[in-house]
Amino acid sequence: MNHEGQTLNGKVALITGAASGLGEASARKLAASGAAVLVSDINEAGVTALAAELASAGGSAIAARHDVTQAHDWERVIALAMDSFGGLDILVNNAGIAGDNTDLMNLDLEQWHRVLSINLDGVFLGLRYAGPAIEKRGGGSVINVSSILGKVGLAGAAPYCASKGGVSLLTKSAALEWAPLKIRVNSIHPGFVETPLVDQALEKHEDGGAMRELLVAGHPLGRLGQATEVANAVAFLASDESSFMTGSELVIDGGYTAQ
Ligand SMILES: NC(=O)c1ccc[n+]([C@@H]2O[C@H](COP(=O)([O-])OP(=O)(O)OC[C@H]3O[C@@H](n4cnc5c(N)ncnc54)[C@H](O)[C@@H]3O)[C@@H](O)[C@H]2O)c1
Repeated sequence: MNHEGQTLNGKVALITGAASGLGEASARKLAASGAAVLVSDINEAGVTALAAELASAGGSAIAARHDVTQAHDWERVIALAMDSFGGLDILVNNAGIAGDNTDLMNLDLEQWHRVLSINLDGVFLGLRYAGPAIEKRGGGSVINVSSILGKVGLAGAAPYCASKGGVSLLTKSAALEWAPLKIRVNSIHPGFVETPLVDQALEKHEDGGAMRELLVAGHPLGRLGQATEVANAVAFLASDESSFMTGSELVIDGGYTAQ
């Protein structure tokens, strides 16, 4: 493991949806920054392999199967953090799905609920169940993964945009409630980043190649983002380097929403 600036020494972090993409990159970065990490996902094999790799490189890492829509899964995973690492300082509410590319007039309620339950209920449950554990430590940091699509709309992605917009204001409400507890709560808003989520959405699209070019053109820096570029922002918000930030929206989008 690359032991870079150990800004998170002695901290314990839970990262949801850590088997892939931004969650995996964030877990690697937090571990490299000195945190003990609990990596969770519905993909148990994925997080088990990641934890084994991080541990064999000298880090402290364990894995858990975890569906973020299930309250009892949250209770079990928080208890695991307490039993294994003695507490929790950092929560990265990252698990999320893109949903189907369906216009509103053809969208059914089940599709709507599926996206909202993972992307928004999952973040609420994370706050609800991890909050008391972080309070016991005398404070900490929560990073909620929203999106540029929590700030601007996209045709065909209404449930996703609604869920990510919801994450922004849920974040601000939690930040206000928990400021006296010294629990900072911030949201991050990545542009389109090279991960399986984006690859799969493009594969489902009738002309994925053209859509990809359109997406690239939407980012003034002329490319899609890399997962490590988002992980760097997560590590910054997790650490004391961002000690005066709470309730904020950190945009990492190559200029997408500056236009
Ligand atoms: N990739 C992007 O361009 C982009 C941009 C902005 C925001 N985001 C957000 O970043 C987060 C991660 O996205 P990604 O691109 O890394 O996606 P990804 O598909 O690569 O990874 C998502 C992970 O979440 C897990 N997951 C799905 N449902 C779950 C559930 N119910 N409980 C627990 N885990 C579950 C999956 O198994 C997967 O490992 C999501 O919230 C996504 O909306 C991604």
